[in-house]
Amino acid sequence: MVEYRKLHLRRIQNMEKQFKRTTVTSALPYANGGVHIGHLAGVYVPADIYVRYLRLKGEEVMFVGGSDEHGVPVTQRARKEGITPQQVVDRYHKMIKDSFEEFGISFDVYSRTTSPTHHKFASDFFRKLYDDGKLIEKTTKQFYDEQTGTFKTDRDIVGECPHCHAEANGDQCEKCGRDLDPTELINPRSKESGARLVLRDTTNWFLPLNDYEGWLKQWILDGHKEWRSNVYGQCKSWLDMELQPRAMTRDLDWGIPVPVEGAEGKVLYVWFDAPIGYISNTKELCEGNPERWGNWQRWWQDEDTRLVHFIGKDNIVFHCIIFPVMMKAHGGYIMPDNVPANEFLNLEGDKISTSRNWAVWLHEYLVDFPGKQDVLRYALTASAPETKDNDFTWAEFQARNNNELVAVYGNFVNRALQLTQKYYDGIVPPCGTLTDYDRQTIAEFKDVKAKVEALLDVFKFRDAQKEAMNLARIGNKYIADCEPWKVVKTDPERVKTVINISLQLTANLAIAFEPFLPFSSKKLYGMLNVEALGWDNLGSTELIKPGHQLAKPELLFEKIEDEAIQKQMDRLARIKKENEAANYKPADVKKEVAYDDFEKLDIRVGTVLSCERVKKSSKLLKFEIADGMENRTILSGIAQYYAPEDLVGRQVCFIANFPPRKMMGLESQGMILSAVNYDGSLSVITPQREVKPGSQVS
Ligand code: 2FM
Ligand code: ZN
Repeated sequence: MVEYRKLHLRRIQNMEKQFKRTTVTSALPYANGGVHIGHLAGVYVPADIYVRYLRLKGEEVMFVGGSDEHGVPVTQRARKEGITPQQVVDRYHKMIKDSFEEFGISFDVYSRTTSPTHHKFASDFFRKLYDDGKLIEKTTKQFYDEQTGTFKTDRDIVGECPHCHAEANGDQCEKCGRDLDPTELINPRSKESGARLVLRDTTNWFLPLNDYEGWLKQWILDGHKEWRSNVYGQCKSWLDMELQPRAMTRDLDWGIPVPVEGAEGKVLYVWFDAPIGYISNTKELCEGNPERWGNWQRWWQDEDTRLVHFIGKDNIVFHCIIFPVMMKAHGGYIMPDNVPANEFLNLEGDKISTSRNWAVWLHEYLVDFPGKQDVLRYALTASAPETKDNDFTWAEFQARNNNELVAVYGNFVNRALQLTQKYYDGIVPPCGTLTDYDRQTIAEFKDVKAKVEALLDVFKFRDAQKEAMNLARIGNKYIADCEPWKVVKTDPERVKTVINISLQLTANLAIAFEPFLPFSSKKLYGMLNVEALGWDNLGSTELIKPGHQLAKPELLFEKIEDEAIQKQMDRLARIKKENEAANYKPADVKKEVAYDDFEKLDIRVGTVLSCERVKKSSKLLKFEIADGMENRTILSGIAQYYAPEDLVGRQVCFIANFPPRKMMGLESQGMILSAVNYDGSLSVITPQREVKPGSQVS
């Protein structure tokens, strides 16, 4: 209870100001790849839950999304695939947009930063800052590739890490994890051409973030103590260091040209244009339907509008410091009221990575789990990385589905609907006299609305979803305690009341889960044969009228079998192996030895006469080897990698002059040589052409 009082208090503090409408943005994903579960859990599902909740309450809200189509990642992808950046973004914009639609991410607008509206808007925004003297011009030294005639950004530079001497990118060394400045690299080279880079002077326009430090401190550190602690903490650590002017233009050819005379070959920094995309996409929506939305200024410049940005933690500085400073410098804009950034979601213990394909891609998920969008939404919200990094595992996904969606929510709904079907042909029975237990149950589920609201208002989506599930637990307990299947024989009137209450609870579940599991709520409304019920009805016991005919019940959720999960685990194991193979680096070469030392070893070739497993050993194989002399027995620990019969008749190399050794009670007269693969697996060494048994290796 204390927790709810605290939440309520925070809610009241937040709501000191009564806003008339809310603009909700979610980070514009780079259109250089598909969307994976990390994106969905960190940004899009929470944003969608929030927006659906506000809409259900009848509030005026706009949900803005779109693709981020500029920036170096897009050009890198284009180069890798040998196509143009425009082709890259055309492909992935469509793919991302389709994935969002399929998962019910209910954007009001999903546009793109290559749109003409956006280009003009971002260009005008920059020009106003420039004309108003809000930018400073600075000449700095940047790496230049003389072969391609282009300047290189940090991520387009490789070289030797000055700390660990591994090959590193211009901004960071993956091996030792240190942040780098490209000028620190030993032998900096161009990723594109491989050419050695030279430093050249270039002029760019900078936003003097340092001039806004006082204002930022007041606005965030004093004014937004209610922000999530991870967001507030990151802002504080940025503001505790001295802010530096930040370049808002880049020497690149993919992006929005800098609208200043003499700035040919320069484009707006992707982090300058991308957040402006939120505004230009709003403009596009408003201009397409002004009756519905009014003008874009209502959503970005009216003090009665509340602005909320949903992002991942790597975007905090851009949304809490840089973009607000851009808007402040421009003038006329409202500031974000909250930035509920999430931490990261890992996959089976490892960081999600597009380049390593360590991800669950939405388009692939739907092929393997068709129609199960809500299951993923549920599982991702249940383990959302709201306060710390969290891990997605397939085992937990299965358990959430089987033990919660199927066994709790689905089970209750199914019982309520099936009993109505069985006893009353699907017609809702009237509610008779309530017992104390009925009243207690009703009181419990009436509480749920306030609890879910208090949590959603402060962006605690995990806990809010738990409360919705709690409603189903209340229902299951109620039916189990009332045992209508027994009572029907002795007191049929009582059963009518129990079923009526259960059906009211079922309708409540459809409402409570609607922001979280929109597809399932739609299905449930269909089975109840009613139109969607608004949020205000949550807690009501008069939603489904006596005499109302229900539709035929179906299962709301299905069990997910072990085989389906195993298939996903096998896929990840395969990817892990591929990555290990791709990243394999041979061990360091051992200390030098003299030829005399090598000569002391007598390495020979023999032919395998027989081979069998050694009893009670999982590792050892016993070989009879024809060695051109008296033949010999050798034991070798390669049982995991070979079927013994496959080795018979093959030639192997062995050390012939080791002293005999006992293993598992057997004597081994030598050692068979194997190559150790990157993953530790062993592969016996065989001469490339057959030779006489006993031949020496030199
Ligand atoms: O981190 C990213 O994926 C960026 N493309 C997010 C941009 S958010 C906004 F500024 F557009
Ligand atoms: Zn390093």
